[in-house]
Amino acid sequence: MSKKAFITGITGQDGAWLAKYLLSLGYEVHGGVRRVSNPSYPKLKYLGILDQITMHEFELSEFENMRQVIKDVMPEEFYNLAAQSFVGTSFKQPLTTLDIDGASVAKQLEIFRELKPDIRYYQASTSELFGKVQETPQSETTPFYPRSPYGVAKLYAHWMVRNYQESYNIFATAGILFNHESELRGQEFVTRKISMHAAAVAKGQDVLLELGNLDAKRDWGYAKEYVEGMHKILQADHPDVYVLATGETTSIRDFVTECYFHIGIELVWDGKDENEFATNKEGGKVLVKVNPKFYRPAEVDLLLGDAAKAEKELGWKAHTNAKMLAKLMVESDIRDKKDF
Ligand code: NAP
Ligand code: GDD
Repeated sequence: MSKKAFITGITGQDGAWLAKYLLSLGYEVHGGVRRVSNPSYPKLKYLGILDQITMHEFELSEFENMRQVIKDVMPEEFYNLAAQSFVGTSFKQPLTTLDIDGASVAKQLEIFRELKPDIRYYQASTSELFGKVQETPQSETTPFYPRSPYGVAKLYAHWMVRNYQESYNIFATAGILFNHESELRGQEFVTRKISMHAAAVAKGQDVLLELGNLDAKRDWGYAKEYVEGMHKILQADHPDVYVLATGETTSIRDFVTECYFHIGIELVWDGKDENEFATNKEGGKVLVKVNPKFYRPAEVDLLLGDAAKAEKELGWKAHTNAKMLAKLMVESDIRDKKDF
């Protein structure tokens, strides 16, 4: 009989990739979705898997709703991917973020403690826990220093997972995932914002790309590979915490340069701080500029992960780096008209 998996956040980037991967392994896949006015599930349609998933109304702030759905489905594996996942918004909505990204995890763990203590539970922890980094590269033993309401809410969730594992012997795990992107990435995240602008320029549109902090550096990997790591974390002999990362870091500026390179444009950078801009070397036209509106109250300057433990214990390794991602995302945005 096939194993039953439940994915919260199945309509998001990771949820869609994970659903596709688990279906390919023969799992019965159930997905949690919140009520929205236009339930069109574009990412699941894009991957061609919508009709293979059983959907459940599942709102993270509602204890009784979550309890009832979990009781009905009784999955063997539970992947908690749903979250208010945009760091920028967390500064404007810190309490909602705390409720959705932090408290909901305690609620789920309580439900499993009562209804299904043999659950295999995966929590989507994040490199934002490292925030103002205390060492480089960051690994499972690096001290945390979150720099946003999002990071703080995720820290609470992370420690609740650790505590339920230690206190109640629940197979509760967490993946500390560094940034991972793909052709399914939400448009407000910086890589997709950049790839969409580059694609528009390639198609002859007159668009100016406005960005915030260009100096921030991220360890960007490919989401499709990272969801395989999530699955491996739940198949391990013991519940544990793993970093998933590429071990390379790239600035926002360099990612922009790379994306425009793929459409045949060489960018020349000039100016400083909020006056920085980039022109097309050939025509001198301004294609990119800084707009301080996109700055954050506090910034995470540098993320660079060390995924040696995942490689050694799980056999997981990233294969796609930022350069390859830039190409893949720009080409996808040129090729496919997407509804997301
Ligand atoms: P995403 O694309 O923004 O997806 C978030 C998902 O959560 C969506 O399905 C969203 O539903 C759902 N959701 C939000 N609020 C909800 C609520 N109140 N009740 C039920 N569902 C709700 O995020 P992602 O990139 O796939 O990330 C997946 C998880 O990994 C998140 O927890 C994120 O914080 C974490 N993470 C991501 C990265 C990364 O680089 N991608 C790195 C580390 C950790 P709608 O479709 O209705 O909005
Ligand atoms: N979104 C955005 N938009 N970010 C910008 C912009 C812009 O116009 N200009 C510069 N940036 C900088 C941000 O200040 C940040 O330093 C970096 O680009 C990356 O921003 P995001 O793509 O929004 O991602 P994030 O690193 O804040 O958060 C993502 O990764 C985390 C893991 O480290 C999200 O996926 C989180 O959910 C995830 O936990």
